[in-house]
Amino acid sequence: MEIAVIGAGYVGLTTAICLAHLGHEVRVFDLIPEKIDSLKEGSLPIFEPGLEQMLQEGIQSGKLQFFSNLPETLKGGKVTFLCVPTPQDEDGAADLSHVLSAAADCSKWLEPNSILATKSTVPVGSALRLEDSVARHDVHVVSNPEFLREGSAINDFLYPDRLVIGTRSREAAETMLQLYSQVQAPKVVTSPESSELIKYASNAFLAIKLSFANDIAALCERTGGDVSQVMHGMGLDSRIGPNFLKAGPGWGGSCFPKDTRALISISARFGLSMPIVDAALESNEKAHKRMVDTVMEQLGGSLEGKKIAVWGIAFKANTDDFRDSPALAVISRLKRRGAIVTAYDPKAKAKNDNFKRAESALEAVEGADALIVLTEWNEFQDVNAEQVRRLMAGNAILDCRSILNSAIWRKSFNNFRAVGMHA
Ligand code: UGA
Repeated sequence: MEIAVIGAGYVGLTTAICLAHLGHEVRVFDLIPEKIDSLKEGSLPIFEPGLEQMLQEGIQSGKLQFFSNLPETLKGGKVTFLCVPTPQDEDGAADLSHVLSAAADCSKWLEPNSILATKSTVPVGSALRLEDSVARHDVHVVSNPEFLREGSAINDFLYPDRLVIGTRSREAAETMLQLYSQVQAPKVVTSPESSELIKYASNAFLAIKLSFANDIAALCERTGGDVSQVMHGMGLDSRIGPNFLKAGPGWGGSCFPKDTRALISISARFGLSMPIVDAALESNEKAHKRMVDTVMEQLGGSLEGKKIAVWGIAFKANTDDFRDSPALAVISRLKRRGAIVTAYDPKAKAKNDNFKRAESALEAVEGADALIVLTEWNEFQDVNAEQVRRLMAGNAILDCRSILNSAIWRKSFNNFRAVGMHA
């Protein structure tokens, strides 16, 4: 099938590259010509495991093409995917301006009887607004939210838990089902409103699940429980399920913080509150603070002038993305309490005045009073504990992702703590 993708960001590129991999003819448009030029050369502007190789395969097979010209991109397109950002505005609501203007720009060039499908996360009611922006009776606006996780996007696209298609048109639904015919997953065909809500409700529910795990972790730290054991025991109950229960320094990234706030904002517009989602956000702030309180306690009650090494800046492993990263939130709190922070991350290139960057995990720990692990990169597990001990000035370790082998690390560090574990 001939497909157009508007927006060569993380979602647009994953969608385009995976659809080309499935054999569709895909044309991609982006407003930034330099991005299009480097994509044409086979170079991916984001880090996502396996995606650059699939990009090159798509280009070589001729199934994947990149354009800076919108009418040319849309030529022949049976389905056009809108994959432009929906950032957060000052009130926490989703800012739809990019989506609406992209739809209006496309309107004139969309093929007759084609589909305009939104992959961008858009609030309930957006499909109707998009229909107004497009103003074409022969174009169906369909909601088709993405459920991709950074770091495992290819797998999530090709082997999803479900596909959601929101449309009232039977013909449009059939075209979308045909487009995804090779993807083996339950397919939920529903109204655009339900589809738009499925996306927000899913992200908010996952954030609530994580906040719950983090709150239980805090209780474990006080009572002698071990949060990984507690979550394992809970997750075996099939009504709860084992996934997404790993306690950490708080959740972050480009989606959960933005989407939880947007859900609260949409509900408020309809006169409703979302107390559970409010609480999840509040719990997340508390998780950041708890990490800082713990290391402060490990260092005798003050962080003033203390040298803290941080491993991990990305909001999770296997991505270079540091948007709303819990690591950055924790670093900022450390700085506010007077600590001097040196941080290392294998991929995330974040820079700000709160910390100095190190080029390796070992460089970061030189002369440090404490080490905090904030992102669960595999490479941290391979670092030799004894070597770290020799380089550090102090002996405090706080593993906020429970990735270090505590039995080994405790031999070198008698002041070792891990999230959700009693001291
Ligand atoms: C999330 C959703 O998982 C995707 O389904 C959704 O498509 C995407 O948002 C989106 O809306 O675009 P993503 O933000 O890439 O995906 O990352 P997640 O893997 O969900 O992680 C989010 C945060 O939760 C990270 O900070 C991560 O470290 C944390 N997390 C996740 C935990 O602390 N524990 C866990 O068990 C899982």
